Amino acid sequence: MTELKQIDQEVQALMWQMRTETLSKMQQPFNVDEKSGRKDLVTTVDKSNEKAIVAKLRELDPDAQILGEEGFGDQIEQTAGRVWLIDPLDGTMNFVMQQNNFAIMISLYEDGVGVLGYIMDVMNAQLYHGDTKSVFVNNKQIEPPTNLHLRDALIGISGPLLINNDHNMQVIAKKSRGPRMYGSAGIEFAKVMSGELIGYISYLRPWDFAAGKILAQTLNLQVKAIDGGPLSMLSSNVVLVATERASEEVITLAN
Ligand code: IPD
Ligand code: CA
Ligand code: CA
Ligand code: CA
Repeated sequence: MTELKQIDQEVQALMWQMRTETLSKMQQPFNVDEKSGRKDLVTTVDKSNEKAIVAKLRELDPDAQILGEEGFGDQIEQTAGRVWLIDPLDGTMNFVMQQNNFAIMISLYEDGVGVLGYIMDVMNAQLYHGDTKSVFVNNKQIEPPTNLHLRDALIGISGPLLINNDHNMQVIAKKSRGPRMYGSAGIEFAKVMSGELIGYISYLRPWDFAAGKILAQTLNLQVKAIDGGPLSMLSSNVVLVATERASEEVITLAN
């Protein structure tokens, strides 16, 4: 077995272990703090998940750098070499308010190029994982979604972008069959990959889109900045993931 194949199997096992631990921590009291304000929360579960994931990745891949949302990894200023990105709880607001619709995400990049991606939809027990060749949900390989036009499907748009009509989001929503809003980038990438949404648009940081980008591109989906350019892996971007047809239509309407 190659080293990468072995790492992949260990990380899949880690994702299931983190799911079990997260469900158990959700049943016990946990602390909630505000980061930048009342709409930006962090819990003791975000932090303990990240610490556990960092510890395991250090053991599996000691020479790699790690970028984690909650800061328990490394300070990363460039993308050379192997870099693991961690979102230890994606959709923290949903975790706190709904105990539903949240994810755990890990991905591996090498010299800025995606290698492995993992999105765990915790409450549905679905692990989206794969590489640049194939994508699986649990053990079942999935096929690329149908290349639909915007007018024929539902589109995920984040709350702030739609409310503020940034990049003409209200026009884009009207052209579609309707906008949807789930509050977790991981869950929304999964819905685009399964064909429930034709696309998803949100202002995201690298750990929010890193895993989804690898998997979605393998499924022939376009993953770009809203101006149609490439995404920066070191800063925030307004990210668009969509079928090829919808991607062209959204970029035209948004710019
Ligand atoms: C957030 C969620 C949300 C997105 C925000 C992210 P977090 O992640 O993915 O859907 O709109 O931009 O920050 O902070 O809960 O991991
Ligand atoms: Ca957060
Ligand atoms: Ca996130
Ligand atoms: Ca998070």
